[in-house]
Amino acid sequence: MENLRVLILAAGKSTRMKSKYAKVLHRAGGRTLIEHVLRSARSILADVWVVVGHTSDKVKAAISEVKFVEQKDQLGTGHAVMAARDQFAGYKADLLVLSGDVPLISPGTLHAFVRFHREGGYHASVMTADADNPDGYGRIVRRNESEVDSIVEQRDATPEILQITEINSGIYIFNTPALFEALSKIRSNNAQREYYLTDAIGILVSQRQRVGAFKIPSAEEILGINTRQDLAGIDHIMRRRKCESLMAEGVTLVDPPSTFIDDDVQIGADSVIYPSVQIYGNTVIGEDVTIHSFSRISNSKIGARSTVLESCVLDSSNLGEEVTLGPFSRLRPDSVLGDRVRIGNFVEIKKSTLGTDTKSQHLAYLGDATVGKDVNIGAGVITCNYDGVRKYPTIIEDGAFVGTDSQLIAPVRIGKGAYIAAGSSITDDVPPESLAIARGRQTIKEGWAKNRKKK
Ligand code: UD1
Ligand code: CA
Repeated sequence: MENLRVLILAAGKSTRMKSKYAKVLHRAGGRTLIEHVLRSARSILADVWVVVGHTSDKVKAAISEVKFVEQKDQLGTGHAVMAARDQFAGYKADLLVLSGDVPLISPGTLHAFVRFHREGGYHASVMTADADNPDGYGRIVRRNESEVDSIVEQRDATPEILQITEINSGIYIFNTPALFEALSKIRSNNAQREYYLTDAIGILVSQRQRVGAFKIPSAEEILGINTRQDLAGIDHIMRRRKCESLMAEGVTLVDPPSTFIDDDVQIGADSVIYPSVQIYGNTVIGEDVTIHSFSRISNSKIGARSTVLESCVLDSSNLGEEVTLGPFSRLRPDSVLGDRVRIGNFVEIKKSTLGTDTKSQHLAYLGDATVGKDVNIGAGVITCNYDGVRKYPTIIEDGAFVGTDSQLIAPVRIGKGAYIAAGSSITDDVPPESLAIARGRQTIKEGWAKNRKKK
């Protein structure tokens, strides 16, 4: 947008969160609060500036492609904007101010707000809404149908003003020079001993400038986060919205309230998600996939028609189509399973690739392994990939059969179609199509037990 800059206030301590971390770095819906605000701000296509202060290094590290302003001491929202005075000195056009702790604001509403401000020819505009519970918010004192007279903070309000249910969102548009001129007049003689940005509104009005009230239909979008309770409430709203949009796209969620799915997750139509499933990060799930209860899936890909049974943990892994996993399987990062692979209970896989139709159904550990197609991994097979210092690879070629309770001591290669006898400790490469037996031969001592008992 032309002649517009965006300034996000994100310097505040999180006093009411009782946290040592900056408030805007707390997460809801799988993202930090500042990231949510930034996503909406970016849709405006203007220069985005962020005021940082409390643990500013960490906030700076969490976001990119913005310009930063440092607010050394956090003396209030008005003081935060004043910190940008030098950087904004030559800038004469509009400034959209957003709060880093108001994360549900949508791009559409921001666009409508800018349009409202410009079409109304206002000197400044405030986004407002009627709240069921206005507790904690600044109250909008109206001048008339369309304009604001002033904003009064809850802690400075008289009983009459506390009756007002129209709240200040903390989202404004100002003419930049007029804003800085007004801010030079604000004082901190209020209940919180802070320099309030909201006081700039009253000052502009007293200078006969027109301040528009852009009232949106629901206060949900402008809910702010001051406490851990607020954070949980917003997280709940974000997750509810994600569930609703997935259902609208044809995904069955058996119990949406117990289903936690991050915003960026994609799930194909006719997939079914059972209660108490968590799907995080940039996970992509195909069509007709079934995920059973208590599984947690992060940053993974699951191909069409696959099934994840109960209580599996998947992290940064890639599953082909028609794969079956679980119950109680664990895929650690960089596990890649081909189509129709079957992984059963108590199998752990790390940084390994399994070819199509390969099976490992019970109690196995495969680490740093490259396994071909049509391989059978018996119960209790372990790749011994670590000697206490270094990790080594195991290669199992197509069609091999690794007998129950074998240890494959890496580095080692099992040739194509080879058999490993159950209970073997394999230390040397096994040629293709051969049988390797690596265990003590069984001996029988007839009558041994009976004799012992006699003694
Ligand atoms: C503010 C508004 C209130 C409004 C509410 C909406 C003021 C005085 N009050 O109150 O009218 O209803 O937001 O959510 O503005 N910040 C800084 N530096 C500071 C102080 C704050 O950058 O010195 C940042 C915070 O990190 C936060 C935002 O400004 O992102 C709002 O600050 P906060 O203290 O939460 O203001 P509220 O008390 O919620
Ligand atoms: Ca706040």
